[in-house]
Amino acid sequence: MQPNELKASKGQIGTGAIELEENEFLNTEKLEHYIGRIEDVFDSESVLGAKIDKNKVQAYYHDSNIGYNLVHSKDGAVHMALNYNGMFSEDGYYQQVREIEKHLSPDKKNMVLELGCGKGFNSFYLADKVKGSSFQGIDISNKHLSYAKKKAKGLENLNFSFGDFHSINFEDSIFDVVFELESVCHSNDPEKLLREVHRVLKKGGKFVLYEGFRSPGYENLTDLQKKMAVLIEKSMAVNEGYRVDLWLETAKKVGFKVETNDDISYAIMPNLIRFHRLARKYFKYTFLSKLILAIMPSNLIKNTIAGLLMPFSIMQEVQTYNRIILRKK
Ligand SMILES: C[S@@+](CC[C@H](N)C(=O)[O-])C[C@H]1O[C@@H](n2cnc3c(N)ncnc32)[C@H](O)[C@@H]1O
Repeated sequence: MQPNELKASKGQIGTGAIELEENEFLNTEKLEHYIGRIEDVFDSESVLGAKIDKNKVQAYYHDSNIGYNLVHSKDGAVHMALNYNGMFSEDGYYQQVREIEKHLSPDKKNMVLELGCGKGFNSFYLADKVKGSSFQGIDISNKHLSYAKKKAKGLENLNFSFGDFHSINFEDSIFDVVFELESVCHSNDPEKLLREVHRVLKKGGKFVLYEGFRSPGYENLTDLQKKMAVLIEKSMAVNEGYRVDLWLETAKKVGFKVETNDDISYAIMPNLIRFHRLARKYFKYTFLSKLILAIMPSNLIKNTIAGLLMPFSIMQEVQTYNRIILRKK
């Protein structure tokens, strides 16, 4: 998508209060102000310098579970709602999976794998709707898998298991569709992950992704904007965000054809504005923020950093949210 097209689609975000807030998110002084609030509460050097490995990702989802339940989705979605009409609605948590359903052939038994299935929200929806197809979900979070496995009871075409997407525990060339929502951002080795997905897909099979990336223009951003990106990434257990263009080059290198790459960042803005408003409440009184940080798991409370900053990052085109479809050649 060209910058002008992105701006045009951002214009769809809405009217009234949301539009006013959008302008606020383009304002550098406001961004400095909020990063200052974060630095009043958190040791930002230790957040920025953290090395995030698999154990830290597992600990992050374990500690953040209560937060995701309370402020994210009651139904167990651990991803952003897609609200193309600019108004936040919980129905938007189902939008990605409704789109993924269209990639399944109606007249055959599709073999489908979800990477980083979390609490099973997506695969459960699909398995319940498309009974003639078979669904597998893998994840490294036992906390999430315990929810997912309970959900899968009673559905014979659905199975969740422990598994790392860098070393997928399935035979070669058996899946028609592999999909993921916001999980491969945690990979510290995208080439290894892409080679694994390529291996388990049938020839012509699809890998469908809904994922956050750094924008192609990342290197030319200001130091403040880059600091914002790293604060967001580390606070959500992402060791280092990848530039979407470089990530797609890696996909091509391992044998994928890039069928589509749509920047749909504007569709997560209503959800991000909601998180931002909640995070602002947390940062209102520094003394209280510090007290809460002292008594609650820091992995959980650090989510407020991303909550506060993400609308700035999207509106300033520092990070993007993309729908990508790759096909195994
Ligand atoms: C943001 S959550 C998304 C969960 C789910 N896709 C959804 O939409 O609700 C990311 C998930 O990726 C999982 N994950 C992170 N690294 C992983 C890895 N190396 N292999 C498998 N799953 C991983 C996490 O445990 C977490 O459940």
